[in-house]
Amino acid sequence: MVFDFSKNRIDDGVLSSLLDLARERDIERSRDRMFSGEAINSTEGRAVLHVALRDPSGAYKVGDEDVSAGIRSVNARMASFVDTIHSGAWTGATGKRIRTIINVGIGGSHLGPQAAATALAPYAKPGIDVRFVSNVDGHDLAGTLSAVNPEETVFLIASKSFTTQETMTNATSARAWITGKLGDDAVARHFAALSTNTDAVVSFGIDPDNIFEFWDWVGGRFSLWSAIGLSVALAVGWDRFSEMLAGAQELDQHFRRAPLEENLPVLMALLGIWNINFLGSKTFAVLPYDQRLRLLPAMLQQLDMESNGKRVRIDGEAVDYATSPVVFGEAGTNGQHSFHQLVHQGTDVIPADFIVVAEPAHGLEGHQDKLLSHALAQSQALMAGRTLEEAGGNPHRVFPGNRPSNTIILKRLDPRSVGKLIALYEHKTLVQGAIWGINSFDQWGVELGKELAGHLLGEMTGESGAKAKDSSTAGLMETLRSWRS
Ligand code: F6P
Repeated sequence: MVFDFSKNRIDDGVLSSLLDLARERDIERSRDRMFSGEAINSTEGRAVLHVALRDPSGAYKVGDEDVSAGIRSVNARMASFVDTIHSGAWTGATGKRIRTIINVGIGGSHLGPQAAATALAPYAKPGIDVRFVSNVDGHDLAGTLSAVNPEETVFLIASKSFTTQETMTNATSARAWITGKLGDDAVARHFAALSTNTDAVVSFGIDPDNIFEFWDWVGGRFSLWSAIGLSVALAVGWDRFSEMLAGAQELDQHFRRAPLEENLPVLMALLGIWNINFLGSKTFAVLPYDQRLRLLPAMLQQLDMESNGKRVRIDGEAVDYATSPVVFGEAGTNGQHSFHQLVHQGTDVIPADFIVVAEPAHGLEGHQDKLLSHALAQSQALMAGRTLEEAGGNPHRVFPGNRPSNTIILKRLDPRSVGKLIALYEHKTLVQGAIWGINSFDQWGVELGKELAGHLLGEMTGESGAKAKDSSTAGLMETLRSWRS
């Protein structure tokens, strides 16, 4: 992996001051506290130990508990489940081979696995179609169900809490679909669960033998490496999945050992801090120039914004500086024909990460040369711009330039490099959170909406006589209810 940050608005003095800032904020201690299993997620009293998941031969502990032993045991069960599906030994209730896997989950139980499975599509095992359903909007599940055969389908219900409304609604409808077509006894052959909440899984009716558990010290948005990654393992095979873990672990070793000035996640984080807190950027673009990485921006949106979109520090005091930027992105070159106009000539400076892969996995003539040329041209144009004189005096054709970007080059997109890339962004998030003094591992900001939706549901269904307290919501509710009836 090459990390090129030569197009940033820094010089040696800025870089060395940023490194001083990192030392002053003692980010090495934050990092070491994570690796040693301390409860650094202070508002939930939990350790943050997803790194243990990609180091199966390790000896990680949370308190007195040897968590590595638990990881090895679940991994062994996952590997054997994957083998039985791929070999055809696992059959559905009517004896047919399984050809479709549907991961039902949302947030971290969806975005990471879907992004990784998409990135690794060229490694997909033939004969297995892995699909993803996340939205409580019934069009998502209905569209998927209409395209698959129940006799050949296994659902993976992926939910850390096993209480998330969207996932439980989809899981309940999927179960009704299977039992409606194949009978009540079919659940054991067509459902598996990936969760920390085994009691809830059992009361939902999933066979305890089909539960692949993980633990509360795995944050949702960091859970790809746990049982939540089972859909990826089913898509590409256990060996490839293990290679992805190994790639992430290599990055972990680098993060742990490299001096700060050579440490990629630290440098990335510091460059982000420079752009956000010193140069005033409020947004950040993720621009993978590879179609296989098209879902990476969505995954990084959750990683960055759910982790660091916080306005109070760990001690509860409000910050008086910016934290997470708005993250957005799109695969190149598609983005060039959509929002790059604003990135080049808009009023705000939008720092960007270009992610390019040297070798493609296809043999089509000419495409890769063009794709890579566009990637380099975009960052060059952002940096160099075009003066009024160069634009022939036409102000509409002026590009201010001096717009920063990083370029990450991967030699090829394989399980190892995908693991490394995702781990790189994970650790960048940790470092930025440590510098800002916030807890990157909770997500209280999603709670209020969930609570209010619970109240409004009663009103929407007509089961509760309560009325929305504000006239705006009450008016919208009235329109929807009358139009639906
Ligand atoms: O959006 C809130 C959140 O808790 C995320 O952090 C999490 O990834 C997602 O919901 C899904 O949660 P679960 O895996 O418990 O269903």
